Amino acid sequence: MEIETTRLARINRDVNASTGRTKPNAQNAPILINRDHPVSESAAVTESRLVPANSRPGIRVLDAGIRLDRTCLEQLDALLEAVNGKDDIVVVSGYRDLAEQTEIYSSSLQSNGPEYTAKYVALPGCSEHHTGLAVDVGSAAGGLDFIAPEFPDEGVCGAFKAKAAEFGFVQRYKAHKEHLTGISCEPWHFRYVGADHAVIMEERDLCLEEYVGSAGYGEASHGN
Ligand code: DAL
Ligand code: ZN
Repeated sequence: MEIETTRLARINRDVNASTGRTKPNAQNAPILINRDHPVSESAAVTESRLVPANSRPGIRVLDAGIRLDRTCLEQLDALLEAVNGKDDIVVVSGYRDLAEQTEIYSSSLQSNGPEYTAKYVALPGCSEHHTGLAVDVGSAAGGLDFIAPEFPDEGVCGAFKAKAAEFGFVQRYKAHKEHLTGISCEPWHFRYVGADHAVIMEERDLCLEEYVGSAGYGEASHGN
């Protein structure tokens, strides 16, 4: 493990030398939130960072009340522009406070049952949506289901996914990482971690649990 950490640190230097990106470090490490790592007060988003998702021209939203962390929104806007996706991709969900996640969780339990809910809805307090750094996006051509919007691998949604890391986003819940994330595959849920981290995570096929652990950032990480 010691050797592996040293090797990863060396690779980090090489990656950064070739891309010219700022070296990822413990200060800008992404915050890990999952069933074992509930959102802490230090990671909780401050109201002043939240901005309406539709405050950027042309961004389509399922609900006008949806808000995101301002850097996350800035980069989402740039990503949507880059793939010419503003007409076809809709922001379905963004920041959720504890009360909203509790409401979503219990209404899903009632409508969808415990098995489905455990797969697709984080326990209140354990959702990345509490940070304002997670965004659910759906294809405007799909049903725009609030919990599981369609987001196909093809067309403009595929282009969004392919370019996401460049703008700091990762598809947070992938099929082959379910045993680590505790959540089933969610093609629609993107987490903003910053491009420095996202590019490395994609190149090495690391989910956030693996990335935070392998880089030796530990659990007391701060940043995106
Ligand atoms: N759908 C994700 C897991 C959430 O509820 O945060
Ligand atoms: Zn989500």
